[in-house]
Amino acid sequence: MTLTDRFGRVHRDLRISLTDRCSLRCTYCMPADGVPWLARSTMLTTEEIVQVARVGVEHGITEIRLTGGEPLLRVDVVDVVRRLTALTGPSGSPEVSLTTNALRLPALASPLADAGLSRVNISLDTLDRARFISLTRRDRLVETLAGIAAADAAGLRPVKLNAVAMRGVNDDEVVALTRFAVDRGYQMRFIEQMPLDGGHTWDRTEMVTQAEILARLTAEFTLTEVPGRGAAPAELWTVDGGPATVGVIASVTAPFCGSCDRLRLTADGQLRACLFSQGETDVRSLLRAGEASADMDAAIADAYRRCLAGKKAGHDIDDPSFLQPARPMSAIGG
Ligand code: GTP
Ligand code: 5AD
Ligand code: SF4
Repeated sequence: MTLTDRFGRVHRDLRISLTDRCSLRCTYCMPADGVPWLARSTMLTTEEIVQVARVGVEHGITEIRLTGGEPLLRVDVVDVVRRLTALTGPSGSPEVSLTTNALRLPALASPLADAGLSRVNISLDTLDRARFISLTRRDRLVETLAGIAAADAAGLRPVKLNAVAMRGVNDDEVVALTRFAVDRGYQMRFIEQMPLDGGHTWDRTEMVTQAEILARLTAEFTLTEVPGRGAAPAELWTVDGGPATVGVIASVTAPFCGSCDRLRLTADGQLRACLFSQGETDVRSLLRAGEASADMDAAIADAYRRCLAGKKAGHDIDDPSFLQPARPMSAIGG
């Protein structure tokens, strides 16, 4: 049995936010202060997360991505990974990966790899210390770079680096970041900024587009498109004949909603069909309603179906009626 929506899209990818807390305060993701943190009592326990994931895997989920906030701030993250990789469904065990700011990777990369984590995606928006400080509101570039190296050393490959392109902030670093990645065997990906910031200040006309990113790249490198993108958000090109590749995630100017295979579970137990959904499906209340476990699995499967029933064809960012979600990115999970 698969998780299919009314447009025939089969959902195989579950993105689980382990916490809304973060050790950085990236401007495109969170306000500087006064963050409306989720109450601890509303956060799912590890037992609850594994139960929701297990039912998903039994219904065709093959990939699980752990997100945040910063997922490595969850104290039992290694145990979470171990338990998720042990799940089995019709296609075997899910691939479990993680999107992180890398700060805790020097300590955790090896234990995570041992627990079965397959790979990591890491945010790296700039190589310049002063810019890093103004962008993340923290002076931690050196630790971020150490975390990236630790992931590579632990075999969590391919290491993918994410940079949200921002005008007048880091758009002149497209080439430098790509060189940094190519020289070390990582994959650099540039992301069009989406309207998910804490301050609701996103401006379509200010956004750095895929076309601009590609213009900067092709001025320096020979890019050749890599076919076979599937449901991946990133379009990839080989750099100067390869093997290195660079990617662009053009969620705004070239949305990939038509092939979307993703569902999200927030740290406080709400299923979301899309980053931009206005509605959520409450599984936390179900989990805590105290039903017998067989009934509980059926109720969770039903929650997945109800969530997908409301999934729209696309995000409609360019529609005049578009409304930014009330939660910032940090509380949705990237
Ligand atoms: P890979 O499996 O390695 O390709 O991961 P990914 O690129 O899908 O995930 P990652 O967590 O690294 O996210 C990179 C960017 O893609 C972030 O800006 C995410 O918010 C964005 N992204 C991830 N999933 C979706 C999605 O379903 N829709 C949209 N519009 N953006 C997404
Ligand atoms: N638009 C696009 N990408 C974003 N990310 C965080 N906020 C935004 C946004 N507003 C990205 C970060 C991180 C990933 C989880 O999501 O770069 O790598
Ligand atoms: Fe933290 Fe990631 Fe948001 Fe930056 S983008 S504040 S690292 S959750």
